[in-house]
Amino acid sequence: MSVSQNAIIGNGVSIGENAIIEDDVVIGNNVTIGHNVIIHSGVRIDDDVTICDGTILGKSPLKALTSATTKLKILPPLQIKKGTIIGAICIVYKGSIINENVFIGDLATVREEVEIGNNTIIGRGVSIENQTKIGSYVKIETEAYITAMSVVEDHCFIAPKVSFSNDNYLGRTQERFKHFKGPTLKKGARIGVNATILPGITIGEEAVVAAGAVVTKDVPARVIVAGIPAKYFKDVPEEQLLDKGGI
Ligand SMILES: CC(C)(COP(=O)(O)OP(=O)(O)OC[C@H]1O[C@@H](n2cnc3c(N)ncnc32)[C@H](O)[C@@H]1OP(=O)(O)O)[C@@H](O)C(=O)NCCC(=O)NCCS
Repeated sequence: MSVSQNAIIGNGVSIGENAIIEDDVVIGNNVTIGHNVIIHSGVRIDDDVTICDGTILGKSPLKALTSATTKLKILPPLQIKKGTIIGAICIVYKGSIINENVFIGDLATVREEVEIGNNTIIGRGVSIENQTKIGSYVKIETEAYITAMSVVEDHCFIAPKVSFSNDNYLGRTQERFKHFKGPTLKKGARIGVNATILPGITIGEEAVVAAGAVVTKDVPARVIVAGIPAKYFKDVPEEQLLDKGGI
């Protein structure tokens, strides 16, 4: 274990073997840190947080020569709020805020300038790209791909293997830089397994995208769309709506 003398460590903190804690890290009380965890300089961890084996916190982004959306800039420290659990072999980047009681499954990555709201679940192997905002009480299931510059509001559900996209020009032309935008899911929207959402699409409040759909147009609130391209299928059943106790 290697803990910087400039780190501040609270009471009741357990630190696993070979963990590395760099300068100016602040760790609250009753935090559990697994084996081989790396906590880069400046990370702030509140009370009652659990970090499992092999996870890296506060990583700085790298920029490939040809990266389209990654800009090298000075980022604030990663913040992890009270009661959050982060699984094994995850990478959570600098400049992000993980709010209270969030659960992040094993092998997930959360890029820089992401905010995740309270009580949200990020499943195993999920990728959340930079500059994305995820609300509270959201569930994102195994290996979903949330592209850069997406917005997911409170109480949304994203099934396994869902893919978001943000570039209709597929990496060609200068014009594309004006249009980069991930999807926006309004409150309570739900996306079925393996669906694909095209760039800049808005999925309305409590709307549902059926399994395997490719969504090419905005979806109105409280309807189900299905197919390729996704078309109106039927209204969301009343009893599934949040204000009808649909949780
Ligand atoms: C869209 C959905 C909710 C519809 O369910 P439903 O109302 O019970 O529909 P049914 O199963 O009765 O199917 C009605 C018709 O729609 C078709 N259909 C159903 N789901 C479809 C889909 N995802 N895409 C295209 N067509 C679909 C059926 O084949 C059937 O066609 P038919 O009348 O020609 O036989 C459901 O099929 C679905 O996609 N659920 C998402 C599951 C999921 O991803 N869960 C995530 C957690 S694991």
